[in-house]
Amino acid sequence: MTSGSSAGQAFGVDIGGTGIKGALVDTATGTLLTERARIVTPRPATPEAVGEVVVQLVRGADWRGLIGATFPAVIKHGVAQSAANVDPTWVGTDADKTFTDAVGEGSEVIVLNDADAAGIAEARFGAAKGVDGVVILLTFGTGIGSALLMNGVLVPNTELGHLELDGYDAERRAAASVRDEHGMSYRKWSQRVNRYMQHVERLFSPDLFVVGGGVSKNAEKWVPLLELKTRVVPAQLLNEAGIVGAAIAAVERLGE
Ligand code: BGC
Repeated sequence: MTSGSSAGQAFGVDIGGTGIKGALVDTATGTLLTERARIVTPRPATPEAVGEVVVQLVRGADWRGLIGATFPAVIKHGVAQSAANVDPTWVGTDADKTFTDAVGEGSEVIVLNDADAAGIAEARFGAAKGVDGVVILLTFGTGIGSALLMNGVLVPNTELGHLELDGYDAERRAAASVRDEHGMSYRKWSQRVNRYMQHVERLFSPDLFVVGGGVSKNAEKWVPLLELKTRVVPAQLLNEAGIVGAAIAAVERLGE
């Protein structure tokens, strides 16, 4: 058990549609200092209900100090601006303040977009470590998240999952959830991902794509099928990326 704030340490929370996970992170090494705890996302996942879960996770680790939390929406200076796959009451909510008030004195919470957090973690400790130039991380899950990095520096809230693809919001065509819903083979789904990523490639000419989300565990089934000019590598931090990236953001106050 860890009590009190220590330099370079922060508690990371990864808020998702089904589960909310948290652990204390050593941000200098990217390692988890406590076991990853998971609590089922409350329904409805209102700001207050999610705030209570954040409190439970933080108390469970006996932590007081900096806390970073991911959220699957546009987060500008702590305020949620969108709610594509989350409860609509989040739009306009100051997530930083809601969570900071909930955890109480001695702690401060900084909230950022989930894919942005994963991008920060992969750039620091994972698949994009030491890569110069433009790196785009795309996470394929319920939706499609994106992180744009230039020489390791994040440009937040790019929301490339909502580009138009064949007349649709791209994530409604090419998210991993679409593959599950329609029982699509990896081959069939990869054709959609390919069209989507070709579109992103034309817009940004990146130096590297990092693909994350649950499907990156089975990257060998679909990444080799992609026909892109840009190198594509699977994310390395898998289900720790959000927690680690959020903790880094908190220590470096990247959400402010
Ligand atoms: C949201 C993004 C989020 C992504 C992945 C999208 O629907 O608009 O903010 O990063 O899903 O969770």
